[in-house]
Amino acid sequence: MAFDVKLKSLGKTARAEPDQPLLDAFLRDGVWLPHNCTQGTCGSCKCRVESGEFDHGNAPLSTLTEEERAQGLLLGCQARAKSDMVIEPITAVEDDVVHHPLRDVAGRIAVLEDIARDTRRLVIELDDDMTFLAGQYAEIKVPGTSAWRQYSMANPPSETRRLEFHLKRTEGGIATDQWLFRRAAVGDRVELKGPLGNFGLFRPQDDPAILIAGGTGLAPMKSIVQHALAEGLIPEIWLYHGGRGAADLYDGEFFEALADRHPNFHYRPCLSEDTWDGRCGMVTDCVLEDFKSCKGMSAYLCGPPAMVQAAGKALKRRRMPPRRTFKEEFTTAEHADAPLAKAG
Ligand SMILES: Cc1cc2nc3c(=O)[nH]c(=O)nc-3n(C[C@H](O)[C@H](O)[C@H](O)COP(=O)(O)OP(=O)(O)OC[C@H]3O[C@@H](n4cnc5c(N)ncnc54)[C@H](O)[C@@H]3O)c2cc1C
Ligand code: FES
Repeated sequence: MAFDVKLKSLGKTARAEPDQPLLDAFLRDGVWLPHNCTQGTCGSCKCRVESGEFDHGNAPLSTLTEEERAQGLLLGCQARAKSDMVIEPITAVEDDVVHHPLRDVAGRIAVLEDIARDTRRLVIELDDDMTFLAGQYAEIKVPGTSAWRQYSMANPPSETRRLEFHLKRTEGGIATDQWLFRRAAVGDRVELKGPLGNFGLFRPQDDPAILIAGGTGLAPMKSIVQHALAEGLIPEIWLYHGGRGAADLYDGEFFEALADRHPNFHYRPCLSEDTWDGRCGMVTDCVLEDFKSCKGMSAYLCGPPAMVQAAGKALKRRRMPPRRTFKEEFTTAEHADAPLAKAG
Protein backbone atom coordinates (compact mmCIF):
# COMPACT_ATOMS: atom_id res chain seq x y z
CA MET A 1 0.00 0.00 0.00
CA ALA A 2 1.44 3.38 -1.07
CA PHE A 3 1.32 6.52 1.11
CA ASP A 4 0.78 10.22 0.37
CA VAL A 5 3.81 12.30 1.35
CA LYS A 6 3.24 16.05 1.25
CA LEU A 7 5.78 18.89 1.12
CA LYS A 8 4.42 21.39 3.63
CA SER A 9 5.34 24.75 2.04
CA LEU A 10 5.15 23.72 -1.64
CA GLY A 11 1.89 21.86 -1.06
CA LYS A 12 2.98 19.13 -3.51
CA THR A 13 2.33 15.46 -2.79
CA ALA A 14 4.02 12.25 -4.00
CA ARG A 15 2.83 8.63 -3.73
CA ALA A 16 5.56 6.62 -1.99
CA GLU A 17 5.66 2.83 -1.89
CA PRO A 18 6.69 1.35 1.50
CA ASP A 19 10.11 0.27 0.12
CA GLN A 20 10.72 3.43 -1.90
CA PRO A 21 12.97 6.27 -0.64
CA LEU A 22 10.94 9.49 -0.30
CA LEU A 23 13.32 11.39 -2.59
CA ASP A 24 12.85 8.76 -5.31
CA ALA A 25 9.05 9.12 -5.05
CA PHE A 26 9.15 12.93 -5.40
CA LEU A 27 11.66 12.95 -8.29
CA ARG A 28 9.64 10.35 -10.21
CA ASP A 29 6.52 12.51 -9.73
CA GLY A 30 8.44 15.49 -11.18
CA VAL A 31 8.76 17.31 -7.83
CA TRP A 32 12.33 18.55 -7.32
CA LEU A 33 13.93 18.14 -3.89
CA PRO A 34 17.53 19.10 -3.03
CA HIS A 35 19.96 16.16 -3.13
CA ASN A 36 23.57 15.54 -4.16
CA CYS A 37 24.58 11.92 -3.70
CA THR A 38 21.54 9.58 -3.22
CA GLN A 39 23.84 7.32 -1.15
CA GLY A 40 23.43 8.84 2.33
CA THR A 41 26.77 10.66 2.51
CA CYS A 42 26.16 14.36 1.71
CA GLY A 43 23.19 15.29 3.94
CA SER A 44 21.73 17.73 1.40
CA CYS A 45 18.39 15.87 1.31
CA LYS A 46 17.56 16.37 5.02
CA CYS A 47 13.89 17.04 5.69
CA ARG A 48 11.98 17.86 8.87
CA VAL A 49 9.06 15.55 9.61
CA GLU A 50 5.89 17.45 10.46
CA SER A 51 3.73 14.34 10.82
CA GLY A 52 3.60 10.65 9.95
CA GLU A 53 5.46 7.39 10.55
CA PHE A 54 8.62 6.33 8.70
CA ASP A 55 11.86 4.40 9.01
CA HIS A 56 15.34 5.81 8.41
CA GLY A 57 16.37 3.06 5.97
CA ASN A 58 20.18 2.90 5.63
CA ALA A 59 20.80 6.50 6.80
CA PRO A 60 24.29 6.45 8.36
CA LEU A 61 24.76 8.02 11.81
CA SER A 62 27.70 9.97 10.38
CA THR A 63 25.29 11.88 8.11
CA LEU A 64 22.14 11.91 10.29
CA THR A 65 23.08 11.94 13.97
CA GLU A 66 20.99 10.57 16.87
CA GLU A 67 20.36 14.16 17.91
CA GLU A 68 19.02 15.08 14.46
CA ARG A 69 16.80 11.98 14.49
CA ALA A 70 15.44 13.05 17.88
CA GLN A 71 14.71 16.49 16.37
CA GLY A 72 12.57 14.83 13.69
CA LEU A 73 14.96 15.00 10.73
CA LEU A 74 15.31 12.31 8.05
CA LEU A 75 17.38 11.76 4.91
CA GLY A 76 15.05 11.92 1.90
CA CYS A 77 17.26 9.57 -0.12
CA GLN A 78 17.07 6.84 2.57
CA ALA A 79 13.82 7.20 4.55
CA ARG A 80 10.70 5.16 3.74
CA ALA A 81 7.11 6.10 4.63
CA LYS A 82 5.09 3.88 6.96
CA SER A 83 1.98 6.12 6.81
CA ASP A 84 0.85 9.32 5.08
CA MET A 85 3.37 12.04 5.94
CA VAL A 86 4.01 15.80 5.84
CA ILE A 87 7.68 16.82 5.52
CA GLU A 88 9.69 19.97 4.80
CA PRO A 89 13.18 20.09 3.18
CA ILE A 90 15.63 22.06 5.34
CA THR A 91 17.37 23.46 2.22
CA ALA A 92 15.41 25.93 0.11
CA VAL A 93 13.95 24.41 -3.07
CA GLU A 94 14.97 26.51 -6.09
CA ASP A 95 12.00 26.69 -8.41
CA ASP A 96 13.52 28.53 -11.39
CA VAL A 97 14.99 25.38 -13.00
CA VAL A 98 12.96 22.88 -15.01
CA HIS A 99 14.15 19.45 -13.88
CA HIS A 100 13.53 16.22 -15.75
CA PRO A 101 11.66 13.55 -13.80
CA LEU A 102 13.60 10.54 -12.55
CA ARG A 103 12.97 7.42 -14.62
CA ASP A 104 14.24 3.93 -15.24
CA VAL A 105 16.02 3.22 -18.53
CA ALA A 106 17.90 0.25 -19.92
CA GLY A 107 20.43 -0.19 -22.68
CA ARG A 108 23.45 -2.07 -23.94
CA ILE A 109 27.13 -1.36 -23.62
CA ALA A 110 28.34 0.10 -26.93
CA VAL A 111 31.88 1.15 -25.95
CA LEU A 112 34.19 -0.02 -23.18
CA GLU A 113 37.74 1.31 -23.44
CA ASP A 114 40.76 2.02 -21.27
CA ILE A 115 41.40 5.75 -21.40
CA ALA A 116 43.82 6.33 -18.49
CA ARG A 117 45.40 4.51 -15.55
CA ASP A 118 42.65 2.41 -13.93
CA THR A 119 40.07 4.43 -15.84
CA ARG A 120 37.55 3.27 -18.42
CA ARG A 121 35.09 4.97 -20.72
CA LEU A 122 31.69 3.28 -20.74
CA VAL A 123 29.16 4.24 -23.41
CA ILE A 124 25.63 2.89 -23.07
CA GLU A 125 23.12 2.98 -25.93
CA LEU A 126 19.71 3.34 -24.34
CA ASP A 127 16.47 1.75 -25.54
CA ASP A 128 14.72 5.05 -24.77
CA ASP A 129 15.73 8.69 -24.17
CA MET A 130 17.01 9.92 -20.84
CA THR A 131 16.81 13.72 -20.64
CA PHE A 132 19.07 15.45 -18.12
CA LEU A 133 20.87 18.70 -17.31
CA ALA A 134 24.62 19.09 -17.97
CA GLY A 135 26.54 17.87 -14.90
CA GLN A 136 23.91 15.46 -13.55
CA TYR A 137 24.46 11.76 -12.91
CA ALA A 138 22.67 8.44 -13.26
CA GLU A 139 22.68 5.38 -11.05
CA ILE A 140 23.83 2.20 -12.76
CA LYS A 141 22.74 -1.18 -11.40
CA VAL A 142 25.75 -3.46 -11.13
CA PRO A 143 24.72 -6.56 -13.10
CA GLY A 144 24.36 -9.69 -10.97
CA THR A 145 24.10 -7.70 -7.71
CA SER A 146 21.59 -5.51 -5.87
CA ALA A 147 24.08 -2.61 -5.91
CA TRP A 148 23.46 0.75 -7.58
CA ARG A 149 26.30 3.25 -8.08
CA GLN A 150 26.36 6.90 -9.15
CA TYR A 151 28.18 7.97 -12.34
CA SER A 152 28.11 11.37 -14.05
CA MET A 153 27.15 11.74 -17.70
CA ALA A 154 30.07 13.06 -19.80
CA ASN A 155 28.06 13.62 -22.98
CA PRO A 156 26.12 16.85 -23.55
CA PRO A 157 22.39 16.82 -22.71
CA SER A 158 21.56 17.11 -26.44
CA GLU A 159 22.52 13.40 -26.68
CA THR A 160 19.77 11.57 -24.84
CA ARG A 161 20.12 8.04 -26.30
CA ARG A 162 23.86 7.46 -25.89
CA LEU A 163 25.33 8.12 -22.46
CA GLU A 164 29.07 8.37 -21.83
CA PHE A 165 30.56 7.65 -18.40
CA HIS A 166 34.15 7.64 -17.04
CA LEU A 167 34.81 5.11 -14.27
CA LYS A 168 37.87 4.96 -12.04
CA ARG A 169 38.73 1.58 -10.53
CA THR A 170 38.29 1.32 -6.74
CA GLU A 171 40.33 -1.54 -5.27
CA GLY A 172 37.85 -4.29 -4.33
CA GLY A 173 34.91 -2.14 -5.50
CA ILE A 174 31.73 -3.97 -6.49
CA ALA A 175 30.92 -1.76 -9.49
CA THR A 176 34.40 -1.03 -10.76
CA ASP A 177 36.91 -3.70 -9.72
CA GLN A 178 34.49 -6.62 -9.69
CA TRP A 179 32.26 -5.68 -12.63
CA LEU A 180 33.44 -2.99 -15.05
CA PHE A 181 37.13 -3.92 -15.04
CA ARG A 182 36.51 -7.68 -14.86
CA ARG A 183 33.21 -8.99 -16.19
CA ALA A 184 31.63 -6.24 -18.32
CA ALA A 185 31.65 -6.62 -22.13
CA VAL A 186 30.36 -4.74 -25.15
CA GLY A 187 26.78 -5.85 -25.84
CA ASP A 188 25.90 -6.49 -22.16
CA ARG A 189 22.54 -5.17 -20.97
CA VAL A 190 22.57 -2.54 -18.20
CA GLU A 191 19.83 -0.94 -16.09
CA LEU A 192 20.02 2.72 -15.06
CA LYS A 193 17.95 5.37 -13.34
CA GLY A 194 18.32 9.10 -13.76
CA PRO A 195 18.74 11.97 -13.99
CA LEU A 196 19.91 12.83 -10.48
CA GLY A 197 21.94 15.51 -8.75
CA ASN A 198 22.18 19.16 -7.97
CA PHE A 199 25.52 19.82 -9.66
CA GLY A 200 25.77 21.32 -13.11
CA LEU A 201 25.04 24.11 -15.50
CA PHE A 202 21.34 24.66 -14.96
CA ARG A 203 21.00 28.20 -16.29
CA PRO A 204 22.99 30.70 -18.42
CA GLN A 205 25.45 32.82 -16.43
CA ASP A 206 27.11 36.21 -17.02
CA ASP A 207 30.29 35.50 -15.04
CA PRO A 208 33.31 33.56 -16.36
CA ALA A 209 33.83 30.12 -14.83
CA ILE A 210 36.74 28.06 -13.56
CA LEU A 211 36.13 24.30 -13.80
CA ILE A 212 38.41 22.12 -11.64
CA ALA A 213 38.32 18.33 -12.09
CA GLY A 214 40.28 15.60 -10.35
CA GLY A 215 40.48 12.23 -12.16
CA THR A 216 37.07 11.11 -13.43
CA GLY A 217 35.64 14.34 -12.02
CA LEU A 218 36.27 15.34 -15.64
CA ALA A 219 33.08 13.50 -16.70
CA PRO A 220 30.47 16.12 -15.70
CA MET A 221 32.86 18.89 -16.81
CA LYS A 222 32.97 17.40 -20.31
CA SER A 223 29.18 17.60 -20.43
CA ILE A 224 29.12 21.14 -19.01
CA VAL A 225 31.84 22.46 -21.36
CA GLN A 226 30.22 21.02 -24.51
CA HIS A 227 26.78 22.31 -23.49
CA ALA A 228 28.06 25.77 -22.50
CA LEU A 229 30.03 26.24 -25.73
CA ALA A 230 27.26 24.94 -27.99
CA GLU A 231 24.63 27.17 -26.40
CA GLY A 232 26.81 30.17 -25.43
CA LEU A 233 25.90 29.87 -21.73
CA ILE A 234 29.20 30.98 -20.09
CA PRO A 235 31.25 33.93 -21.45
CA GLU A 236 34.68 32.39 -20.69
CA ILE A 237 35.71 28.98 -19.33
CA TRP A 238 38.97 27.67 -17.85
CA LEU A 239 39.03 23.88 -17.42
CA TYR A 240 41.71 22.47 -15.08
CA HIS A 241 42.18 18.68 -15.03
CA GLY A 242 44.44 17.31 -12.31
CA GLY A 243 46.17 13.93 -12.18
CA ARG A 244 49.21 12.49 -10.44
CA GLY A 245 51.00 11.45 -13.64
CA ALA A 246 50.57 11.69 -17.41
CA ALA A 247 48.92 8.25 -17.28
CA ASP A 248 46.03 9.74 -15.28
CA LEU A 249 45.01 12.35 -17.86
CA TYR A 250 42.67 11.60 -20.74
CA ASP A 251 40.64 13.29 -23.50
CA GLY A 252 43.38 15.92 -23.83
CA GLU A 253 43.15 15.97 -27.62
CA PHE A 254 39.39 16.40 -27.42
CA PHE A 255 39.70 19.46 -25.18
CA GLU A 256 42.62 20.92 -27.15
CA ALA A 257 40.54 20.69 -30.33
CA LEU A 258 37.65 22.41 -28.54
CA ALA A 259 40.00 25.17 -27.36
CA ASP A 260 41.22 25.65 -30.97
CA ARG A 261 37.63 26.16 -32.12
CA HIS A 262 36.50 28.32 -29.16
CA PRO A 263 38.80 31.21 -28.14
CA ASN A 264 36.76 31.63 -24.91
CA PHE A 265 37.65 28.08 -23.75
CA HIS A 266 41.01 27.32 -22.10
CA TYR A 267 42.20 23.81 -21.22
CA ARG A 268 44.80 23.42 -18.44
CA PRO A 269 45.93 19.86 -17.58
CA CYS A 270 48.15 19.70 -14.44
CA LEU A 271 50.31 16.90 -13.03
CA SER A 272 51.12 16.74 -9.32
CA GLU A 273 53.85 14.04 -9.38
CA ASP A 274 55.35 13.70 -12.90
CA THR A 275 57.35 16.42 -14.57
CA TRP A 276 56.49 17.24 -18.18
CA ASP A 277 56.39 20.23 -20.48
CA GLY A 278 52.93 21.21 -19.19
CA ARG A 279 51.75 22.52 -15.79
CA CYS A 280 53.20 20.84 -12.68
CA GLY A 281 51.76 20.95 -9.17
CA MET A 282 48.50 20.30 -7.37
CA VAL A 283 45.63 21.43 -9.54
CA THR A 284 44.43 23.95 -6.91
CA ASP A 285 47.94 25.49 -6.71
CA CYS A 286 47.92 25.92 -10.50
CA VAL A 287 44.61 27.79 -10.24
CA LEU A 288 45.96 29.99 -7.42
CA GLU A 289 49.01 30.83 -9.56
CA ASP A 290 46.84 31.82 -12.52
CA PHE A 291 44.19 33.88 -10.70
CA LYS A 292 45.15 36.51 -8.16
CA SER A 293 41.46 37.34 -7.62
CA CYS A 294 38.37 35.29 -8.48
CA LYS A 295 35.94 38.06 -7.64
CA GLY A 296 33.13 38.17 -10.20
CA MET A 297 33.72 34.57 -11.29
CA SER A 298 32.11 31.22 -10.49
CA ALA A 299 33.56 27.73 -10.16
CA TYR A 300 32.56 24.13 -10.72
CA LEU A 301 34.54 21.57 -8.71
CA CYS A 302 34.31 17.81 -9.09
CA GLY A 303 36.26 14.72 -8.12
CA PRO A 304 37.67 13.14 -4.95
CA PRO A 305 36.29 14.86 -1.78
CA ALA A 306 39.75 16.03 -0.58
CA MET A 307 40.45 17.76 -3.89
CA VAL A 308 37.02 19.40 -4.03
CA GLN A 309 37.36 20.71 -0.46
CA ALA A 310 40.90 22.01 -1.08
CA ALA A 311 39.78 23.76 -4.27
CA GLY A 312 36.81 25.33 -2.48
CA LYS A 313 39.11 26.76 0.24
CA ALA A 314 41.63 28.01 -2.32
CA LEU A 315 38.95 29.86 -4.28
CA LYS A 316 37.57 31.42 -1.10
CA ARG A 317 41.06 32.80 -0.44
CA ARG A 318 40.84 34.34 -3.93
CA ARG A 319 37.57 36.06 -2.91
CA MET A 320 35.12 33.83 -4.75
CA PRO A 321 31.87 33.78 -2.76
CA PRO A 322 30.84 30.24 -1.65
CA ARG A 323 27.43 30.73 -3.30
CA ARG A 324 29.25 30.93 -6.69
CA THR A 325 31.17 27.69 -6.04
CA PHE A 326 29.32 24.56 -7.22
CA LYS A 327 30.65 21.22 -5.97
CA GLU A 328 30.26 17.51 -6.61
CA GLU A 329 32.23 15.13 -4.39
CA PHE A 330 32.68 11.58 -5.69
CA THR A 331 32.08 9.99 -2.29
CA THR A 332 31.88 6.24 -1.78
CA ALA A 333 29.34 4.84 0.64
CA GLU A 334 29.63 1.88 2.99
CA HIS A 335 27.26 -0.50 1.29
CA ALA A 336 25.85 -3.29 3.39
CA ASP A 337 23.25 -4.31 0.82
CA ALA A 338 25.11 -5.44 -2.22
CA PRO A 339 26.82 -8.84 -2.17
CA LEU A 340 28.09 -10.07 -5.52
CA ALA A 341 25.65 -12.66 -6.84
CA LYS A 342 27.09 -16.00 -8.02
CA ALA A 343 25.21 -16.08 -11.32
CA GLY A 344 26.02 -13.47 -13.99
C1 LIG B 1 27.14 11.95 -7.20
C2 LIG B 1 28.25 10.99 -7.50
C3 LIG B 1 28.74 10.89 -8.79
C4 LIG B 1 29.80 10.02 -9.05
N1 LIG B 1 30.29 9.98 -10.33
C5 LIG B 1 31.37 9.20 -10.59
C6 LIG B 1 31.96 9.18 -11.90
O1 LIG B 1 31.49 9.84 -12.84
N2 LIG B 1 33.04 8.40 -12.09
C7 LIG B 1 33.60 7.65 -11.07
O2 LIG B 1 34.62 6.97 -11.32
N3 LIG B 1 33.04 7.62 -9.83
C8 LIG B 1 31.95 8.37 -9.59
N4 LIG B 1 31.38 8.34 -8.33
C9 LIG B 1 31.83 7.32 -7.36
C10 LIG B 1 31.05 6.00 -7.66
O3 LIG B 1 29.65 6.21 -7.47
C11 LIG B 1 31.44 4.82 -6.76
O4 LIG B 1 31.35 5.20 -5.41
C12 LIG B 1 32.84 4.30 -7.07
O5 LIG B 1 32.94 3.94 -8.44
C13 LIG B 1 33.15 3.06 -6.19
O6 LIG B 1 32.18 2.09 -6.44
P1 LIG B 1 32.53 0.54 -6.31
O7 LIG B 1 31.24 -0.21 -6.30
O8 LIG B 1 33.56 0.14 -7.30
O9 LIG B 1 33.21 0.47 -4.88
P2 LIG B 1 32.46 0.04 -3.51
O10 LIG B 1 32.11 -1.40 -3.55
O11 LIG B 1 31.36 0.99 -3.27
O12 LIG B 1 33.61 0.27 -2.48
C14 LIG B 1 34.06 1.60 -2.20
C15 LIG B 1 35.06 1.55 -1.09
O13 LIG B 1 34.39 1.32 0.13
C16 LIG B 1 34.84 0.15 0.74
N5 LIG B 1 33.62 -0.51 1.28
C17 LIG B 1 32.58 -1.00 0.56
N6 LIG B 1 31.64 -1.50 1.39
C18 LIG B 1 32.11 -1.33 2.66
C19 LIG B 1 31.62 -1.63 3.95
N7 LIG B 1 30.44 -2.24 4.12
N8 LIG B 1 32.38 -1.28 5.01
C20 LIG B 1 33.56 -0.66 4.85
N9 LIG B 1 34.07 -0.35 3.65
C21 LIG B 1 33.38 -0.68 2.58
C22 LIG B 1 35.52 -0.65 -0.37
O14 LIG B 1 36.54 -1.48 0.10
C23 LIG B 1 36.08 0.44 -1.24
O15 LIG B 1 37.31 0.89 -0.76
C24 LIG B 1 30.35 9.21 -8.03
C25 LIG B 1 29.82 9.30 -6.73
C26 LIG B 1 28.80 10.17 -6.46
C27 LIG B 1 28.27 10.28 -5.07
S1 FES C 1 22.52 12.09 1.83
FE1 FES C 1 20.72 12.08 0.66
S2 FES C 1 21.28 12.94 -1.24
FE2 FES C 1 23.14 12.82 -0.12
